[in-house]
Amino acid sequence: MSLPRTSDVLVIGGGIIGLVTAWRAAQRGLVTAVVDPEPGGGAALAAAGMLAAVTELHHGEQTLLGLNLASARRYPDFAAELSELTGHDLGYRRCGTLAVALDADDRAHLREVHDLQRASGLASQWLTGRECRRLEPMLAPGVRGGLRADGDHQIDPRRLAAALVTACERAGAVFHRSWADRLTVVRDRAAGCVLRDGAVLEAGQVVLAGGSLSGRLAGVPREVLPPVRPVKGQVLRLTVPPRYAPFLSRTVRAVVRGSHVYLVPRLSGELVVGATSEELGWDTTVTAGGVYGLLRDAHELVPGITELPLAETRAGLRPGSPDNAPLLGPTGLDGLLLATGHHRNGVLLTPVTGDVMAHVLTSGDLPEEARPFTPRRFAADLSEQPA
Ligand code: GLY
Repeated sequence: MSLPRTSDVLVIGGGIIGLVTAWRAAQRGLVTAVVDPEPGGGAALAAAGMLAAVTELHHGEQTLLGLNLASARRYPDFAAELSELTGHDLGYRRCGTLAVALDADDRAHLREVHDLQRASGLASQWLTGRECRRLEPMLAPGVRGGLRADGDHQIDPRRLAAALVTACERAGAVFHRSWADRLTVVRDRAAGCVLRDGAVLEAGQVVLAGGSLSGRLAGVPREVLPPVRPVKGQVLRLTVPPRYAPFLSRTVRAVVRGSHVYLVPRLSGELVVGATSEELGWDTTVTAGGVYGLLRDAHELVPGITELPLAETRAGLRPGSPDNAPLLGPTGLDGLLLATGHHRNGVLLTPVTGDVMAHVLTSGDLPEEARPFTPRRFAADLSEQPA
């Protein structure tokens, strides 16, 4: 049976951001299609799934913090709805996070982070090294102090992606398991896309949600092409044998010699160790140096990890944007919307992105909370670039 070739909404990209957009749009009664050779893939397959609005706060990202917190607040209901609807266990774990310091420099840095969190009205608690080890006995004796953030949780992004595929199917969204080769523009309006096999899909509105690939779709006029770039992250998956459980009871993270390292323990026994952050274009090689650096830093935090089986190494590409914040909503080309550029926060921002995109697709208006993330904020920069 051939698939329908027309829809109200065509979502290009079936990672978690494209899927949540398609699911919420289909729930609102829009005839929705998704183009992706492997829906449920993308950056989420490498992601650790930290929902870390508090512990990933950076200077200069207060506007993004508002959106991160809005999404964190939605997570309990979002996860319950998705899980109930699909029967999938999402690995959603309200376990909190502990950010620790290993030396005097780290501790000074963490004190600054704590000041920034307090100034931003966020709840976190300063602990001594001993208090940290009381919470997490596997921590190294050298841990000098830490910040406890009980509101930063986790979800398993692979389970999230699989559940979103099911949710889309149940809501009636159609999947075209192929690459989108080119956006079609008819009379100055996005009108659909051409697939790799030459099939033409037509739609009233097109959402480009292709993660780090979003800036490479042919046919998109240069002045609305999203300024996203790939930011490579290498991650490891270890396994905690039942005899060592519970190895860690919450996410543990630190900045070691300037690099972020985190350990995310799942109830399934998986322990995710991440992640490098590398600007190397489209390279997704897992390197000896990447694995060594992660294991070295993780070992300084939690020496016992060297006992654990190493189950998987992987690299993914975050969709970085010039201000580390997503691009959500209409572009300067009628009919073309963006949902991309989520960088380090794609998993956290999934619920709010679905709601924002469904709202704008049905009403034409970007809701108040998403207005700072309009793609139009980059329009001036793009039109000034040489052709
Ligand atoms: N949010 C964690 C990371 O991007 O590595």
